[in-house]
Amino acid sequence: MLETLPMAPADPILGLTEAFKKDPNPNKINLGVGIYVDDEGLSPLFRTVHKAEEKLWRGAQPKAYLPISGSVEYGRAVQKLIFSADSPLIADKRLRTAQTPGGTGALRVAGDFLHTRFPKARIWFSNPTWNNHFNVFEAAGLEILEYPYFDPATHTLDWDGLLAGLRAIPAGDVVLLHGCCHNPTGVDPSPAQWDEIGRVLAEHNLFPLVDLAYQGFGDGVDEDAEGIRILARHLPEMLICSSFSKNFGLYNERVGALTVVAESDDAAERAFSHVKAVIRANYSNPPAHGALIVKTILAEDDLRAEWEAELVVIRGRVQQMRELFAATMKQKGVEQDFSFMIDQKGMFSLSGLSREQVDWLKREKAVYMVGSGRVNVAGMTARNMNALCDAVAEVLATVNVG
Ligand code: LMR
Repeated sequence: MLETLPMAPADPILGLTEAFKKDPNPNKINLGVGIYVDDEGLSPLFRTVHKAEEKLWRGAQPKAYLPISGSVEYGRAVQKLIFSADSPLIADKRLRTAQTPGGTGALRVAGDFLHTRFPKARIWFSNPTWNNHFNVFEAAGLEILEYPYFDPATHTLDWDGLLAGLRAIPAGDVVLLHGCCHNPTGVDPSPAQWDEIGRVLAEHNLFPLVDLAYQGFGDGVDEDAEGIRILARHLPEMLICSSFSKNFGLYNERVGALTVVAESDDAAERAFSHVKAVIRANYSNPPAHGALIVKTILAEDDLRAEWEAELVVIRGRVQQMRELFAATMKQKGVEQDFSFMIDQKGMFSLSGLSREQVDWLKREKAVYMVGSGRVNVAGMTARNMNALCDAVAEVLATVNVG
């Protein structure tokens, strides 16, 4: 059977990392996969993660199975992170959280839950969205459609298009929203716009599924949850998929969570029973270690404060790179104005470079970015900036936009 198989296409994001690793060019630059690097170009181990791991090692526990939905304390910590400790949603027991293998695991559980329980529901993505959303929800069996989101001409939110798009979605469908730091555009709605989005979703009986993979990478841990908190004022139900890959630097530990928001304690319990059935059939129960780290950091005031301070440094560095890139391109006399990047949030920006230009940069300069022109700003450093900007200036001057 296996003899008949052709190669599957490489993943547009993780496939790039494989190609980057093989590239012998010593000056190669990786702006592909969303990994934060420090000034040295290295992905740092968070100090707080190291401290939590030391603590866990000292108090080593046996490794029996976790419950299907993982640790209850971890789930509670996640809920507080999303909605704040004093949220009435917690007091009213309207939340249930499952510990999942990464944000992608949470998305897949959400997809399987939605498709098995609500087979008629379709899912709507922002155009554009994270490439892997297509793989996950297609594999779960959902029909995928798109609503307008981004205006490439202005590099900003296509607000009128977004609203009109949401209003046209039939009742009972699912709308996938990025909680903050939209991937790939870096463009988020303002609080007033979130309010309007919540109103429209409620009016049209649409079900929000929020992907929250960068909490703390935009303006702050609480600030970045503001959109979700606003939505929850308008909507009695939603699903939230959290990832702790970026904001704790726990990429390879696969730490995530799926939070169900329901109208009552009872409805939450019933919905969660189906989520657990999906998990049991999928990976049975979650891996423990990464979530233990997150739980340990969030449970202790000192560690939590230190973690937030680490995020301040990260946000500051990414912001500096946004500014330095725009300024260096200007300095090099490039006509295109990249100052739009300065106001964007999170790791990514859509550079506006065409697929041809992206291919040329990879081939000629060993500069790697996603085919859509998405750049991981968090992969830029003061050291690689000059070479990067020279390469981008050259491609802009020599390769036409396709
Ligand atoms: C990205 O978008 O680069 C990250 O979310 C990593 C991934 O899995 O694609």
